[in-house]
Amino acid sequence: MATVKFYGEESVPLEMHKVRIVQKLNLLPIDQRLKAISEAGNNTFLLQNADVFLDMLTDSGVNAMSDQQLAAMMVADDAYAGSATYTRLADKLHEIFGMDYFLPTHQGRACEHILAKVLVQPGTVVAMNYHFTTTKAHITLQGGVVEELVADAGLEVTSDLPFKGDIDIAKLEAVIKKYGADKIAFVRVESGTNLIGGQPVSLKNLADLRKVCSQHGILYVLDASLLADNLYFNKIREESCKNLSIREITRKVADLFDIIYFSARKLGCARGGGICIRDKELYFKMRGLVPLYEGFLTYGGMSVREMEALAVGLEETMDEDMISQGPQFIACMVNDLDKRGIPVITPPGGLGCHLDAKRFVDHIPQSQYPAGALASALYIVSGIRGMERGTLSEQREPDGSEVFANMELVRLALPRRVFTLSQVKYAVDRIAWLHENRRLIGGLEFIDEPPILRFFYGLLKPVSDWQEKLVAKFRADFGDSL
Ligand code: F0G
Repeated sequence: MATVKFYGEESVPLEMHKVRIVQKLNLLPIDQRLKAISEAGNNTFLLQNADVFLDMLTDSGVNAMSDQQLAAMMVADDAYAGSATYTRLADKLHEIFGMDYFLPTHQGRACEHILAKVLVQPGTVVAMNYHFTTTKAHITLQGGVVEELVADAGLEVTSDLPFKGDIDIAKLEAVIKKYGADKIAFVRVESGTNLIGGQPVSLKNLADLRKVCSQHGILYVLDASLLADNLYFNKIREESCKNLSIREITRKVADLFDIIYFSARKLGCARGGGICIRDKELYFKMRGLVPLYEGFLTYGGMSVREMEALAVGLEETMDEDMISQGPQFIACMVNDLDKRGIPVITPPGGLGCHLDAKRFVDHIPQSQYPAGALASALYIVSGIRGMERGTLSEQREPDGSEVFANMELVRLALPRRVFTLSQVKYAVDRIAWLHENRRLIGGLEFIDEPPILRFFYGLLKPVSDWQEKLVAKFRADFGDSL
């Protein structure tokens, strides 16, 4: 993708695939969009997909699959036990990551459930660059504590730092000193930190962390859900990786870890998940939980068709053309917004483009969920569904007080190979209009707030009639246009 030069024109990402199956999209008129978001409690998770024009909620389970993946699904070996499909998938993972043992699960959070059950006890600590929602929930449910050790510079929204997901080694050493190495259940690195903008982790940082873990006898775990984007950034941003193939970089990363788990809804463009384990004893400790929570050992809750597709998808992930598409489209979107003075996370990362709601709607206090309000407003003016990744995605303290998020983001995910560049340009245009009219956007308040993972089901309403005013301004500027 990156290798073709343009003549006499600003270069744009060039897709190294063609589209052979399409799905019709609808763009509802704005008053119907207002109705839809109101009925969804201003929670984009609760919108009906039929009411959405561009679904940028997530890349999870919605990446486009290749013809080879679909073809592989047809030869799946449908057996409860001992399926040849399982062997093909386990062999592919062994080939890529070099770990001897593999446990299949139905998706990424199921891996977290098993890891937490086996490794986390009350009073133990999981040190990590940054939490993911489900990861933290599983660790705290087991009575564990999460320590976030991303370097302070990683939390700066605008930056030109190439690896904002890196852990601050001094912070890790301080945490080990504070709790004692025996209380650290494991060190977890999320390669491609989801909640702070899909920002990558450098191979150098991974290697430095390995040294600290070995020195203290601490288990070292990789969440590889967003590894594909991370590998691309290693290749283009890290000197030591420039002359290595994606397969070689992958192996250098994998060789550092004791355990690698992933959501196959992201990595491998299929649906499912899995845990790769180096140590036999550890494998046996976790294995018993798979039939209990997931399914028998040779499918773990996944359909065999998805397992076949995953084996092919993992192989395709070793292709730079394939993994560069997402980050390059994201860079295009981020750079365009940035040029127009619209606050976004920089440098561009993986997963999607992240609007910085703290600056976009700096008049909305965190207690009124600025990122949630911005996501709602964006849907109203564009039919685009993004995801709040801010205070709404946090959980309250036991005493009921709010945990204000470090960052208030609206994530606009670009699932791999799904959108066209003109759709990205439409998104940029509507975001630019919204930015011009940002003072019209107001806050949100809860009508119904669930106690756990409230962002999934929570219902909210606007604190005033700002949404009607926004619609009126849109009408005045765009007339009858959708
Ligand atoms: N780890 C990371 C880094 C993730 O991004 C996700 C999911 C998971 C674990 C859990 O995996 O969904 O298969 O159970 N992220 C999705 C998202 C939900 O939209 O970003 P899962």
